[in-house]
Amino acid sequence: MSPSSSPKFKNPRARHNFQGRTGSITGVGAYVPTRVLTNSDLEKMVDTSDEWITTRTGIKERRIAAADEFTSDMASKAAQRAMKAAGVTGEQIDLIIVATITPDMVFPSTACLVQQKIGARRAAAFDLEAACSGFIYGLEIAQQFIMSQTYDTVLVIGAEKLSSIVDWKDRNTCVLFGDGAGAAILQNRANSHGLLTAVMGADGDKSDLLYMPGGGSRCPASMESVSGRLHFLRMEGKETFKHAVQAMVKAAKETLRRCEVNISQVKCIIPHQANRRIIDAVGERLGATPGQLFVNLDRYGNTSAASVAIALDEAVNSGRIQRGELILLVVFGGGLTWGAALIEW
Ligand code: ACO
Repeated sequence: MSPSSSPKFKNPRARHNFQGRTGSITGVGAYVPTRVLTNSDLEKMVDTSDEWITTRTGIKERRIAAADEFTSDMASKAAQRAMKAAGVTGEQIDLIIVATITPDMVFPSTACLVQQKIGARRAAAFDLEAACSGFIYGLEIAQQFIMSQTYDTVLVIGAEKLSSIVDWKDRNTCVLFGDGAGAAILQNRANSHGLLTAVMGADGDKSDLLYMPGGGSRCPASMESVSGRLHFLRMEGKETFKHAVQAMVKAAKETLRRCEVNISQVKCIIPHQANRRIIDAVGERLGATPGQLFVNLDRYGNTSAASVAIALDEAVNSGRIQRGELILLVVFGGGLTWGAALIEW
């Protein structure tokens, strides 16, 4: 067996012989704001109903950050919990990656603000923008840095304050999203469990399905951009739905194929928490049982890059996953972007 081979499952990276280096997730953590916004609260804000939101999405409530609570605050709280679980201090972290579409500011990066808040003075830090797929993109980047011997300890965070870019007058989108953060510490662990493989994909041809027109170099803030409500997220729900199911199924199947794993061997599938109907369609097409699917969107809605990170923390800390078992993460988001990752926990 080559040094980086997993003891139980095929690790496609083993053929490259990375001196036995594997990015093992040694700690996870999450944070959600205390304020709960229920479907009945939304009934008072826009023309909607608990019945519509529940049957079309599966969402019952979501968390909303306080006015003075920013993405970097939520990210730092989730990070500190992951660091505690991993037994890692700020000084030990080599790199911080924050996946977000709602940074505190356009620049500096939210990762730099997190670096200061958690006392990770040695760490390099950058933000990653892959919308809802950002956490898997981040895990794979962390893994690559670890395998290349550049870094030993990487902090990956998915964090969003989507309430700051949601149009609270648009019933098509405002019922879907919530705020929160999730984090993971990846460390070099020779011949250990870890990220067996990851698939990342993108399709810029369909960038107009899910986007925010204002605030970038194409449309800087102006009186016109504000009055035109251009600083809010826009989404073509139906089209996005269709592409989400197709891309998630394809990415998930590719990770399983690479590792020669059958879906029945996966203990827990953690899909992006956007819509219960998308999750069920993906599960069905993968041949999964309902018991394999992890779902928490009823409580948090779609938290974009934070979504699978929060769910991973809940799945681990509720005892749903034990060491040595397989977890399949599968995501989809604006860009379009998508991805899947198979983790031997
Ligand atoms: N309450 C009541 N009625 C509503 C609401 C609402 N909140 N929102 C829309 N409707 C109405 C529409 O106006 C429409 O009415 P009409 O038929 O009179 O025109 C009707 O309900 C049906 O609307 P659809 O858009 O066809 O509803 P659909 O079943 O497609 O569900 C949804 C919409 C939930 C948005 C779904 O399409 C979806 O989940 N899409 C994918 C979302 C996703 O995966 N996003 C990717 C990640 S997000 C990221 O990257 C940040």
